[in-house]
Amino acid sequence: MSLKILVTGGAGYIGSHACLALLRAGFEVVVVDNLSNSDQEAIERLQFLAHRKVRFYELDICQTADLSEIFRHEKIHAVMHFAGLKAVGESTEKPLKYYHQNIVGTLSLIEAMKDHNVFDLIFSSSATVYGNPAYLPLDEKAPTGIGLTNPYGKTKYFIEEILKDLAHSDPRWRICLLRYFNPIGADVSGQIGEDPLGIPNNLVPYLTKVAIGALPMLSVYGNDYPTVDGTGVRDYIHVVDLVDGHLAALKTHCIDRSENQAGGVFVYNLGTGQGYSVLEILRAFEEVVGKDIPHRIVGRRAGDVASCYADASLAGEKLKWKAQYDLKRMAEDAWRWQSLNPKGYRN
Ligand code: NAD
Ligand code: UFG
Repeated sequence: MSLKILVTGGAGYIGSHACLALLRAGFEVVVVDNLSNSDQEAIERLQFLAHRKVRFYELDICQTADLSEIFRHEKIHAVMHFAGLKAVGESTEKPLKYYHQNIVGTLSLIEAMKDHNVFDLIFSSSATVYGNPAYLPLDEKAPTGIGLTNPYGKTKYFIEEILKDLAHSDPRWRICLLRYFNPIGADVSGQIGEDPLGIPNNLVPYLTKVAIGALPMLSVYGNDYPTVDGTGVRDYIHVVDLVDGHLAALKTHCIDRSENQAGGVFVYNLGTGQGYSVLEILRAFEEVVGKDIPHRIVGRRAGDVASCYADASLAGEKLKWKAQYDLKRMAEDAWRWQSLNPKGYRN
C-alpha cells in the first residue's frame, strides 16, 4: 500500500509542484490549504498532469480541532509543511498576522501530528535564517538568527528553533529543515506555476509580468553592491529540483530509516551553489523571451543583502540530491508558465 503524505499549502507555488512530484512517485496525497494565496485550479491542474487525485481540504491549519479530524480520518505517514505567509514587506507592516499564521499554524500542526502519532515532518525553511551571510557559500553550520530584518524571516528562524526543541524532547520525531534559496521556474507543462496575488515582490514573477506587458518596468534595486556588476546576487533554483530535494529528504529520513533510526533534526540547504546577479537574470530572460525587458536602476531595497548562495554539498552527500536544471531552463519554464497563463490561474 502506498504511503499517504499530508501537504499543507499544497495549492501554493511550491506545494503544488510537490504534490505533483509525490503523486508521480506513487504516494497518496492529502492537501490542506485555506486558499489565502492560491487557487483551487492549481489542484485541478496537477491532478490532470498526474492522472491521479489528491484529497483536498480547504482549511486553515490554525484550526487545530478540524486539522486533528483530518489526521483521524486519513492515515498520514508524513507531513510536508508549506503553508504560511511569505511576503517580506507585508510582514513588516503586519507582524502579528505573520507570527500568528506561521508560528501558531505550525504549533497547531505539530500538536495534531503528535496526537495522532505522526512524527515525520519536512519544513519549508529559508536561507533568510542566515541573515546577512557570515561567509559564502553558506553551509548549514553558518550562524542563524542574527541580523534578521523582518518578521517573516524571524518566523522561519523561530519555527526552526521550536522544531529543534521538539525533536530534542522526544526521539520519535524526524524533522527535516529545508532551507530554500531562491525557487523559480515551473513545471515543464506550463500548467502550474507561481501566481502571486497583486503586484509580485520577487524578482522573477515581477520580471515575467513586465515581459508579458502587465507591468511597465522592472526596478533593479541597487547597482552599488560589491558583486560582479553591482546588482544583488542570489542562488536561483528550479522549483522542480527543489521539490525533488523534498522527496529525497522524505525517502532518506522518513521512509528509509536504516541509517537514521534515532530520529532528530536534519538541516539541508537546497540551492544550486551558483549565484547570479539581477542583471544576469534579466539577460537570461531577455534571451528566452526574445526581446528587451524594460528596466531601470533604483536605490537599494531595505533589508536586502548583497549576495547569498549555498553550499549544498550536505544534501548531495546525505540525500544523494543535486539540482539538475540550469538558468536557461529555469527561464524557459518560468516564461512558458507566464505566457500560457498571462493572468495566472484566473485566466
Ligand atoms: P505560496 O504562498 O504560493 O504557498 C503557500 C500556500 O499556503 C498557499 O496556497 C496558501 O493559501 C497556503 N496557506 C497560507 N497560510 C495558510 C494557513 N494558515 N492554513 C492553510 N493554508 C495556508 O508560497 P510558496 O512560494 O509556495 O512557499 C511555500 C513555503 O515555502 C512557505 O512556507 C514559504 O515561506 C517557504 N519559502 C518560500 C520561498 C520562495 O521564494 N517562494 C523561499 C523560502 C521559503
Ligand atoms: N530585485 C530587484 N527588483 C525587484 C525584485 C527583486 O532588483 O523587483 C532584486 C533584489 O534586490 C535581490 C534579487 O532581486 O537582489 C532577488 O530578490 P527576491 O525578492 O526575488 O528574493 P530575495 O532573495 O530577496 O528573497 C527570497 C524570498 C524570501 C526568502 C529568500 C531566501 O522572497 O522569502 O529568497 O530564500 F527568504
